[in-house]
Amino acid sequence: ARTYLITGAASGIGRATARQLSARGHRVIGADLKDTDISADLGTGEGRALLAEAAADLGGGRLDAVIACAGVADHDPVTVRVNAFGAIATLTGLRPLLAAGRHPRAAVVASVAALHPTDPAIVDAVLADDEAAAVAAARAAIDRGEPQRVYTSAKHALVRWVRRAAVSDAWAGAGIPLNAIGPGIIRTPMSRPMIGDPEIRAVADAAVPMPLNGYGEAEQVAPLLDFLTSPENTHVTGQVVFIDGGADAVLRGEEG
Ligand code: NAI
Repeated sequence: ARTYLITGAASGIGRATARQLSARGHRVIGADLKDTDISADLGTGEGRALLAEAAADLGGGRLDAVIACAGVADHDPVTVRVNAFGAIATLTGLRPLLAAGRHPRAAVVASVAALHPTDPAIVDAVLADDEAAAVAAARAAIDRGEPQRVYTSAKHALVRWVRRAAVSDAWAGAGIPLNAIGPGIIRTPMSRPMIGDPEIRAVADAAVPMPLNGYGEAEQVAPLLDFLTSPENTHVTGQVVFIDGGADAVLRGEEG
């Protein structure tokens, strides 16, 4: 049995993944705002520090895998705080525990939205690790009427960070595969309001075309996170594995 730390474990993709891994006999330490083992707000520095401390305590100084699912889709700067800085802090903050684990692996949930138009000011600020600048840029994007760019930019920056970090000494050099997944539209509490509104749904269907099997379920995403963080994954690293019913292939065509 392995010990997994999963953020966003109280709902949606994180919860489905936690349940699947628990059912296979693994130990899962959940983190979320509430309703799981560790209550921590990953939109804040205090919450990120608390996560690392509590994970060290509960894991006994080691973790075998980290799966970062926590995220929001609000038209608000909090989205860049949680989806980019919170996710990156989860990976970097728990990396020392992984380094002490067995067959350590990490995965983070990005999105097909990482392929959509972004705001370079937000992306650059995330990659420069400047949270104040990223929040200011997010506010500016909202004020000029491009609120959806906060989410796309946060996910895009996260993917770029993963590709950069995965091949560094800290990850590849330490024998730790690090990957992102890029889900299309998955039926969870996050996507429910969007799917339920015919106008927003039409925009989303055009932005995320899913010719294979349409919208996914959280339970259908979990096995991919399971594989990427299993000992069987020895050479997949620095990838964004799209699980999107073909959206990436439609959007980027043959050169993707
Ligand atoms: P969800 O809303 O069901 O689950 C997200 C979880 O993250 C919730 O339990 C929530 O409490 C937690 N969370 C939010 N803010 C937090 C914070 N500040 N600190 C700690 N935990 C926090 O949504 P879902 O769909 O399961 O989302 C999981 C991930 O998948 C997110 O990163 C999301 O952006 C991503 N995603 C979702 C897609 C979808 O269509 N549902 C598509 C592509 C990516």
